[in-house]
Amino acid sequence: MLDKINQTVAYIKGKVTITPEVGIILGTGLGGLVREIEKQEIIDYKDIPNFPVSTVEGHSGRLIFGLLGGKKVVAMQGRFHFYEGYDMKQVTFPVRVMKFLGIKQLFVSNASGGVNPDFEIGDLMLINDHINLMPNPLIGPNISELGPRFPDMHKTYDPALMALAKEVAAANGIKLQQGCYVGTTGPTFETPKEYVYFRIIGGDTVGMSTVPEVIVARHMNIPVFAISIITDLGVPGKIVEVSHEEVQKVGAMAEQKMTLIMKQMLTKL
Ligand code: HPA
Repeated sequence: MLDKINQTVAYIKGKVTITPEVGIILGTGLGGLVREIEKQEIIDYKDIPNFPVSTVEGHSGRLIFGLLGGKKVVAMQGRFHFYEGYDMKQVTFPVRVMKFLGIKQLFVSNASGGVNPDFEIGDLMLINDHINLMPNPLIGPNISELGPRFPDMHKTYDPALMALAKEVAAANGIKLQQGCYVGTTGPTFETPKEYVYFRIIGGDTVGMSTVPEVIVARHMNIPVFAISIITDLGVPGKIVEVSHEEVQKVGAMAEQKMTLIMKQMLTKL
């Protein structure tokens, strides 16, 4: 794995001039933040050695280097999901690469289904914890150069970054929920009872991404910030039929607020 990472990093360094300080992973339909990135240098995933190619609609599959909120960033427009058939090492490979490119923080976004009855469609939720119901990406021999065999998962989501997000949201009059994201493999959305179950075990939202990337980032001791857009509700009495199209539509509506929060956070870092 180290050889692969180094090979990929060498390729990327040969293509771009920016050394990123912050990595950003953009979720389904949330690629709009990319328009705000200045001085863009773009590489298509398909050209990057060892990178999987993204298959899902709404994920275009590019690494975008540039400036956002005055910080040097690398944004993944399009991520890899376990349900696409990639293994967990492939899903999380770009996070390893971003670390070796120099990132000091990771910002992640996603779309999810709310199971907290206080949530509404279009709300943003700060992820302050997660429950992993997918295979763990660290299963297998540990590479000690990357991180410890048994990583601690207290403070998985960086308290200082969460505090900053709350400050920025309040200053801009943006409602920001907070809670626990349940990560499932998908690709099925939940049955009504599965939504109830995720609420009972302590979840506030459920989605099919993020947790693998966050685990791998924490393995390498990268502080993580994650935010979720509630695109549908799995709350008894409020459950509506959910589709990928609906998730993309609501995501596009809420993403401006998310973009503003991330951009202003970067400015203040
Ligand atoms: N369940 C799982 N993943 C999701 C959902 C959901 O309701 N909405 C968006 N991604």
